[in-house]
Amino acid sequence: MSKINVLEHRIPEYPVDKIFITRWSPRAMSGEAVSKEELMSLFEAARWAPSAFNNQSWRFLYSLKGSETWDTYFGLLAEGNKTWVGNAGALVLILSKTTFDYNGKPTKTHAFDTGAAWGSFALQGSANGLVIHGMQGFDYDRAKTELKIPDDYKVQAMAAVGKPGNPTSLPQKLRDMEIPSTRKSLSEIALEDASLLITD
Ligand SMILES: Cc1cc2nc3c(=O)[nH]c(=O)nc-3n(C[C@H](O)[C@H](O)[C@H](O)COP(=O)(O)O)c2cc1C
Repeated sequence: MSKINVLEHRIPEYPVDKIFITRWSPRAMSGEAVSKEELMSLFEAARWAPSAFNNQSWRFLYSLKGSETWDTYFGLLAEGNKTWVGNAGALVLILSKTTFDYNGKPTKTHAFDTGAAWGSFALQGSANGLVIHGMQGFDYDRAKTELKIPDDYKVQAMAAVGKPGNPTSLPQKLRDMEIPSTRKSLSEIALEDASLLITD
């Protein structure tokens, strides 16, 4: 079990509910199963996210470890992610529907709205004592073809869901990274003047 006290690593600049600070993305997981019931609580949180026209463009495809789809989901992962995701209990592929339900036209905010839903998913998972770790390290094209995802859905990301584990189970390089990260300062991200935006 991870003993890391996240609040020792993250100091907010302004008052904020601690749910936002204590969510982080460990990689150490115990290998225990995650039940469908536990997963549904996370989808329930995601379900209530706001969206343009209440289109609710988020979709979640999931695989529980041991189910017949697990090898297909796991096989999509980049090698670096495979080294630690084997101890997850579920993999979730996050999709957005790119068109409005009411007129079939493209939505401008399917990714934005789906990101909000993913945020709720991750916060609820953290509140429930689970490890939730977002991933872009997988083959997006193969995900589309192997899971037979229709053209009007865009693959956004994957998430590993698991029970917390001991960091000593990780390869040394990942064990050294098993520390809650910090953030840019508020003065870098909340601006009154576009001329203060930093571009590369
Ligand atoms: C969309 C997305 C993709 C990510 N892809 C990966 C990934 O492929 N592999 C990985 O180890 N971590 C991945 N991460 C985790 C991020 O590196 C992590 O969220 C970020 O460093 C902030 O740390 P925190 O989540 O602990 O606050 C991803 C996170 C998100 C939201």
